[in-house]
Amino acid sequence: MKIAVIGSGGREHTIVDKLAQSKRCGEIFVLPGNGGMARQATCVPIKATDVDAVVAWCADNAIDYVVVAPDDPLALGMVDALARRGIPAFGPDKAAARIEASKVFAKDLMKRYNIPTAKWESFDAAGPAMDYIRTEGRYPVVVKADGLALGKGVLICENEAEAQAAITGMMVDKQFGDSGSRVVVEEFLTGPEVSVLAFCDGETLAPMLSSMDHKRALDGDKGLNTGGMGTVAPNPYYTDAMAARCMAEIFLPTVRAMQAEGAPFKGCLYFGLMLTADGPRVIEYNCRFGDPETQVVLPLLQGDLLEIFMACTEGTLRPDMVAFAPGVAACVVMASGGYPGKYETGLPISGLDEAVALPGTAVYHAGTKLEDGRLVTAGGRVLGVTATAETLQKALDTAYEAVGRIHFEGAHWRRDIGQKALQAGG
Ligand code: AMP
Ligand code: GLY
Repeated sequence: MKIAVIGSGGREHTIVDKLAQSKRCGEIFVLPGNGGMARQATCVPIKATDVDAVVAWCADNAIDYVVVAPDDPLALGMVDALARRGIPAFGPDKAAARIEASKVFAKDLMKRYNIPTAKWESFDAAGPAMDYIRTEGRYPVVVKADGLALGKGVLICENEAEAQAAITGMMVDKQFGDSGSRVVVEEFLTGPEVSVLAFCDGETLAPMLSSMDHKRALDGDKGLNTGGMGTVAPNPYYTDAMAARCMAEIFLPTVRAMQAEGAPFKGCLYFGLMLTADGPRVIEYNCRFGDPETQVVLPLLQGDLLEIFMACTEGTLRPDMVAFAPGVAACVVMASGGYPGKYETGLPISGLDEAVALPGTAVYHAGTKLEDGRLVTAGGRVLGVTATAETLQKALDTAYEAVGRIHFEGAHWRRDIGQKALQAGG
């Protein structure tokens, strides 16, 4: 089969790597891809958000199956547009992608179907939002832009002045464009966070291995929020008992709710959970694989990824198709100096061969490109250096040793990925 993967990050590189092992997988194309995928795939310079151009290219090139990985094209209806041309694709249609694309939609869904989440109200004007925050008078309070905002649309406000600034920034100054014309004001919850990705075919849901992201830029969970600076899987806080509870109280009710809404979810549904003292709560849904969660989950997946993807599309998913190898994976993201703020690009990268020579190691490329045959940096998050091993300590030791063998000017990475998980007994 001729496969096209849409997207360009570490998540997409991991998907390409796994698809390449599939029995039925022939040629793989990535639109637009990055500098690290050349061995397994052909990169085609078309932007992931250019729905018309992507669909036309797939039709012209007789692509048999498409994997739409990022949130924006899913929210724009790329899967619907491909279906209109008769091309099957992995990922939710536009109606189902609302579970991520609109926080108000997601919160309403949870309210109507009794799915546990933080207490909240939504507003489409700044005045009433501030009145509500003042009346509640509880800080910190969480302010979220309704729409997609590159992972930056969530602000935790410690006092009234910060809340005012957040509301003004989103609703009046339009920091996130239309994404902030509605906001969700939410109760602040505490507890360990867990990411659970699940394959869904509209009706059947098969959860993958749990994972733990590290969203802040600096050690000790300091600094700004990022797309994710590292991950480990499985997440030691997510016990079997908790998994059973989440399945009954959150996962299955969500799948049934989407069916009942006439928007059955097909694809990868991402549950961002917080394990509070009062039980698990949904912090967010994503309509796609997480990045860098994918980099630690898929390497441990047993079974044929292309077959699982197609079963999701065709409505024939069986939970026994989704199994995981014993063991642990850790991913350390190497970022450009300055990320998530301003950073330089075009810096040469070296040491990759030495890094992957270590047993159980893979380097997934995110912000890289080939320039005259030379690999250079091209984004904020540059590489996801991943190791699998029997224990978390071993996976972390190997991943950090691999990081030590890689060089580009100004590289920065967190030194404490997995420390919390180790303390929790991972
Ligand atoms: P999100 O983009 O919705 O995943 O939010 C980004 C991060 O903000 C989450 O990973 C949490 O750490 C934090 N967060 C979001 N909502 C809440 C909440 N209600 N209480 C506490 N922290 C939150
Ligand atoms: N790592 C978080 C996300 O992909 O949204």
